[in-house]
Amino acid sequence: MEIKKENIKVLYSAEQLQERIEALGKQITADYKDVKEDIIVVGVLRGAFLFFADLCRQLDLTIHVDFLGLSSYGNRTESSGVVKITSDLSTAVVDKHVIVVEDIVDTGLTMQYLIENFRTRKPKTLKICSLLEKPARTIQPVDIDYLGFTIDDYFVIGYGLDFQGKFRNLPYIGYVDGLDDDE
Ligand code: IMP
Ligand code: MG
Repeated sequence: MEIKKENIKVLYSAEQLQERIEALGKQITADYKDVKEDIIVVGVLRGAFLFFADLCRQLDLTIHVDFLGLSSYGNRTESSGVVKITSDLSTAVVDKHVIVVEDIVDTGLTMQYLIENFRTRKPKTLKICSLLEKPARTIQPVDIDYLGFTIDDYFVIGYGLDFQGKFRNLPYIGYVDGLDDDE
């Protein structure tokens, strides 16, 4: 299936995204303001790249940034939680405060894998921040500490999220009626 740009409907505009991200930034800033140890904000590539960049700019904290590249096997409707780390963190996070920033928690399998992976790295604390969650598709429930929006069962694109590799650069979150990735 091919998506034409004129068929994309806006779910969250650039303005709505920025407003929510500003609030999330304030919340995280308040929670971490008295922390003495290093704070490492980890962006999960590639989907979180825009959210991560905007969120970091809303943190009035001294932080380090790092990235973890993931690629999942198969199509999204068969999310198995079997993901491959295509690019690992560049530094150790032992005894540090880690905030993992993701684009979306769909079935939760990827996030579950990430949480287990991070636990073995022995951070002092581990918090999860996701722009979106789609509870209709939950297989593995995960606690999201900082959440942007809860969405209905749409396949969404834009603002980092892709359909077959495309549309990550849209400045808004959009959807197309009747779209499914496994056709
Ligand atoms: P999960 O393992 O099912 O939670 O899927 C997580 C990953 O699937 C996300 O990090 C996204 O990369 C991708 N994904 C899930 N839902 C969507 C969507 O609606 N649009 C684009 N990518 C999605
Ligand atoms: Mg992702």
